[in-house]
Amino acid sequence: MSHSIALLGCGRMGTAMAEGWLRADPKPDISVFAPRPTPRVAEWTDAGAIRLNPEHAPADILVLAVKPQVFGEIINEARRLCDGQTLVVSVMAGWSIQRMAEVMGTHRIVRALPSTPGSVGKGVTLLSCDQSISEDEIALVRDLLAPLGWVEGPVSEQELQVAMTISGSGPAYVFHLVEALAAAGVSHGLAPEFAMRLARRGVIGAGALLDGSDEPASALREAVTSPKGVTAAALEVLMDENAFTSLLREAIGQAVARDKELARGDP
Ligand SMILES: NC(=O)c1ccc[n+]([C@@H]2O[C@H](COP(=O)([O-])OP(=O)(O)OC[C@H]3O[C@@H](n4cnc5c(N)ncnc54)[C@H](OP(=O)(O)O)[C@@H]3O)[C@@H](O)[C@H]2O)c1
Repeated sequence: MSHSIALLGCGRMGTAMAEGWLRADPKPDISVFAPRPTPRVAEWTDAGAIRLNPEHAPADILVLAVKPQVFGEIINEARRLCDGQTLVVSVMAGWSIQRMAEVMGTHRIVRALPSTPGSVGKGVTLLSCDQSISEDEIALVRDLLAPLGWVEGPVSEQELQVAMTISGSGPAYVFHLVEALAAAGVSHGLAPEFAMRLARRGVIGAGALLDGSDEPASALREAVTSPKGVTAAALEVLMDENAFTSLLREAIGQAVARDKELARGDP
């Protein structure tokens, strides 16, 4: 990566990306724009690994990683970091490619939607981009986002709407599964903290198994399930046609509908 990168906003997502860029060889030329630099950013600055708040000038790549509402207030600052050649990569939720192109005055926009586990390098980031972006540039953006974990796409913004309710919101459903599993244990007599520990460690372990295996999730499920055993008894309830699968289908439907409302500007 021998490009110049301007990173506007260096919180959880910006830091996770920059950590990865700084491990690259050769290191890219990184300028971080942050009015209140975190201790990590100050460390990089002291070590000469990045330039902090230099004079604004167009970069090869501009990465926008501030909160969406903050971006609305600093559009002029962002515009000074790009020209017609700059590839603009936005990880901000809620800003469509078209809206971003209008305010930034360029069509060279890639929209990336990371997920919370991206802050520990285990997220899924969805890509969508303007048609003018070349294959080589998409490959470059994939490298840039690799520190956040897995990168999928590019997909159309329409597909993005459904995909993000699975990859972006998915971690929340899994956290809720932990809560629900612990609550079920409590309702059958376990102490709350003990039940929570079991549910939490169980999901972490299942995630690690998934991570380390090429087998489909169904095969991993079957491996835990002896015929007529205790797991089978629980799964009979969960896998009823009106149970878990249909509930999730309905939940995703609600999420997509809500995203459409938000895109229309509904409160
Ligand atoms: N976290 C996720 O899981 C996730 C998932 C999907 C998408 N995203 C998107 O990623 C973006 C960043 O999220 P995040 O979780 O990294 O947020 P964050 O931790 O709050 O980071 C945003 C950073 O921007 C800084 N900032 C505020 N005003 C600024 C300005 N004028 N110029 C430069 N920097 C400024 C903030 O500094 P102060 O704290 O000092 O104000 C903060 O360090 C958001 O747009 C969000 O929609 C995040």
